[in-house]
Amino acid sequence: MKATAIAPSNIAFIKYWGKKDEDLRLPENGSISMNLSNLLTTTTVEFDPNYKEDEVFINDDLDYSTAEKRIIAHLDRIRSRANIKDKAKVVSKNNFPSRTGLSSSASGFAALTVAAASAAGLNLSVKELSILARLGSGSACRSISDGFTEWVAGNSSETSYAVPLYPPDYWDITDMVAIVSKNKKDVGSTEGQKFAGSSPFYPLRLSKMSKKIKFLKQYLLDKNFTKFGELVEAEALEMHAIMMTSKPSLLYIMPESLRIMQLVKKWRSVGLEVYFTLNTGQDIHLICRQENVRRIYQLLSEVSEVKDIIINKSAKGARLISKHLF
Ligand code: DP6
Repeated sequence: MKATAIAPSNIAFIKYWGKKDEDLRLPENGSISMNLSNLLTTTTVEFDPNYKEDEVFINDDLDYSTAEKRIIAHLDRIRSRANIKDKAKVVSKNNFPSRTGLSSSASGFAALTVAAASAAGLNLSVKELSILARLGSGSACRSISDGFTEWVAGNSSETSYAVPLYPPDYWDITDMVAIVSKNKKDVGSTEGQKFAGSSPFYPLRLSKMSKKIKFLKQYLLDKNFTKFGELVEAEALEMHAIMMTSKPSLLYIMPESLRIMQLVKKWRSVGLEVYFTLNTGQDIHLICRQENVRRIYQLLSEVSEVKDIIINKSAKGARLISKHLF
């Protein structure tokens, strides 16, 4: 009754921000993302009748924070589905900093779902795993399938899950993450999303969403990098406009992130094609074609605010592995 899974984080090109059902984590709109090859969580889960309590270790710390409560709630979902009562030990490691905007909840809940479902003896389809992962953290449902995926918003738990759009090798786009600081954000995504509806611009965003998704899918199909990049960058800015104008306002963009956003625009103006996107934290993702990776890496390395750079290609989704963490 022990299983281990590895799962990638993902970067959303069309963002999930705002829920129509908090408990079921049903999003107000669909979203589209790419799995990231170098932002990974590995998780081992063991159910055992000898365990007295659930024990959760994240990156070697016994974790008593809200993360632990969410993980135990997720174990409960899986236990009730598998009809077992055993307590569990969970050990989870990220190969990247958490709570700085790199979506550790996406990789974390995708890995937890796949490992715990298997450890509990469940044999679930990719769709069922995506639904289950969504209940842990919305963005995690997009990290189950390989490559580029679309989370179809749906109207019920059974109809809200991610479907694969293209395999990892479909397009050679690269996501270069600039780590600007390891400071943890004050307001997590779950909390922040509750305020989305208070922005006066939110209804406008939702009214244009299905068209936006259609356009993004067309640019993906055509492999039109310029149109794709422009839309992705505008979408990130729109989401942050919603965050900034909600009540209370949420300011996730830090001076260091802003500096890189301005540099990206400057590099583009002299012919280097690169776009930015960012989530709920200061770390920023630069999207470019393979042929420009070296040049952009070099330019980014020269920026004093950049502490580290992680290069990601499109990657496989969550999967079981045989090497356990304990
Ligand atoms: C800005 O998936 O972390 O990264 O469902 O409450 O766990 P919960 O939220 P979460 O939100 C991610 C928000 C985002 C955009 C995105 O990844 O689509």
